[in-house]
Amino acid sequence: MNRKRSAVFAALTLVAGSSCMALGAAPASAGAASVPCTVDYQIQNQWPTGFTAAVTVTNNGAAKSNWSLKWSYAGDQKVTGGWSARIQQSGAAVTATNESYNGSLATGGSVGFGFQGTYSGANAVPTTFTLDGVTCNVDDGSGGDGGDGGDGGGGTTDPSGRVDNPYADAKVYVNPEWSAHAAAEPGGSRVSDEPTAVWLDSIGTIAGVDGAMGLRDHLDAALTQKGSGELVVQLVIYDLPGRDCAALASNGELGPTEIDAYETQYIDPIASILADPKYAGLRISTIVEPDSLPNLVTNAGGTDTTTEACTTMKSNGNYEKGVSYALEKLGAIPNVYNYIDAAHHGWLGWDTNLNPAVQEFHKVATTNGASVNDVAGFIVNTANYSATTEPYVKVTDSVNGQTVRQAKWVDWNNYVDEQSYAQALRGKLVAAGFNSGTGMLIDTSRNGWGGSARPAGAGPTTSVDDYVDGGRIDRRIHVGNWCNQSGAGLGARPTAAPAAGIDAYVWAKPPGESDGASSAVPNDEGKGFDRMCDPTYGGNARNGNNPTGALPDAPLAGHWFSAQFQQLMKNAYPPLS
Ligand code: GLC
Repeated sequence: MNRKRSAVFAALTLVAGSSCMALGAAPASAGAASVPCTVDYQIQNQWPTGFTAAVTVTNNGAAKSNWSLKWSYAGDQKVTGGWSARIQQSGAAVTATNESYNGSLATGGSVGFGFQGTYSGANAVPTTFTLDGVTCNVDDGSGGDGGDGGDGGGGTTDPSGRVDNPYADAKVYVNPEWSAHAAAEPGGSRVSDEPTAVWLDSIGTIAGVDGAMGLRDHLDAALTQKGSGELVVQLVIYDLPGRDCAALASNGELGPTEIDAYETQYIDPIASILADPKYAGLRISTIVEPDSLPNLVTNAGGTDTTTEACTTMKSNGNYEKGVSYALEKLGAIPNVYNYIDAAHHGWLGWDTNLNPAVQEFHKVATTNGASVNDVAGFIVNTANYSATTEPYVKVTDSVNGQTVRQAKWVDWNNYVDEQSYAQALRGKLVAAGFNSGTGMLIDTSRNGWGGSARPAGAGPTTSVDDYVDGGRIDRRIHVGNWCNQSGAGLGARPTAAPAAGIDAYVWAKPPGESDGASSAVPNDEGKGFDRMCDPTYGGNARNGNNPTGALPDAPLAGHWFSAQFQQLMKNAYPPLS
């Protein structure tokens, strides 16, 4: 595969707190200044067939604007990928040259890069390195700094060193831009310190659009928030070709065929930044392409919910290719945790949808170079409104001998809420071949359903419909309604490990950001006008031809919607004090 331009390849390593020297750290060996350069080559992790290494080069000679480090292996080591340098191997000889962003190396300055390789037999540290043709001394870590040479997993079954649940015992990044929006609202300071996800919804967001923070700005801010503890940064990967094929509100910048642009201009640059060793101590949770694979399952063929755009994306394969590519590229970075979007119970909660969805997820996670090891878990309810738990309606309830599943609201769904859906889905995913440690996230940003309309107890038992409609906290007109829902409230505040199998409750959709404009608004973001955001529209097959329940006067998707934010705070559950 000729993806050499990007410096990111498969990388599996222990990161935070590893013994490798930090960028700019002083060389460990005494008398270093007497040689023109020193090289610290640390095997960070090693398993029977592979290893990862971190290399720090310190320049004691004249300042450089480009550099090239060479070494040769005595054994059969093969570099299979690297980061923060361009690495080529010919026979036993390896050459690492700077990336465009780390070519300058001052006198006394250091630069770090890393790579993954394969080997058999011994994995000896090379004895000679040259920096631009000049021989350096070597510090392989055996000189007393405790470098362990790597003995493999050390008790963890995942050679990457990932933890089972990245949210456990960790803080989560507070996006300063969202926080400022929230804090500027009357009463907003009650929630403005909550962590929300950063949406990378266009190529431009990587560098930052119109002065907004770019990806590096966020990661740098995250390092500051992190301090000495653990911190999770949540990124939404959201720029597939032909995006949002069953709706129009979040159509994006890339046309249905632009898979190459997605890979090389969107995923590769993100991966290259995330692989910067500077960020190796962050836990990066990536929410991969909301709605995309679910759309292929239910909206791409042969039913009344089918759209032409989804049929196109299914037949051209570009959603699948894009998601596999993202999983593989991002999953190669040892501190990235990929969570695939799995819609919500009101979309995939029928076995006839969920079983094919599990097959689709597995297919995409095991093709085009991706593997189940690239998947930390799945997220449900992203940007949706389904309740985490329905306290007064269980799917197993019956009324006068009739199952609640036959109620109009439930419509034979196998679930009535997100937590039961997520837990059952987890079981199906593991049975289908995903790892047993697969963890689930639930987006609880807008599924609180508090306020004066919230039922205080079970509904009347006069009929299954009376019982369900009187007792359900989700007050939507139809479970297929998704745009700026009237009556919604903030849900559970972000929480780690709230229930079995659930890695965290997260706020993926930043509360106060619109789901879509309620009337057509010209824009240069690729966004269309979806009538599901129009409060006067009578609906389509995907919401049972019901009114939309959308708030009026909404701005474009992603834009700040003050009235919605105020409503979400008013109807928060648990309530805000
Ligand atoms: C919608 C928008 C997107 C925005 C996101 C978060 O999906 O299309 O632009 O970033 O919501 O608010």
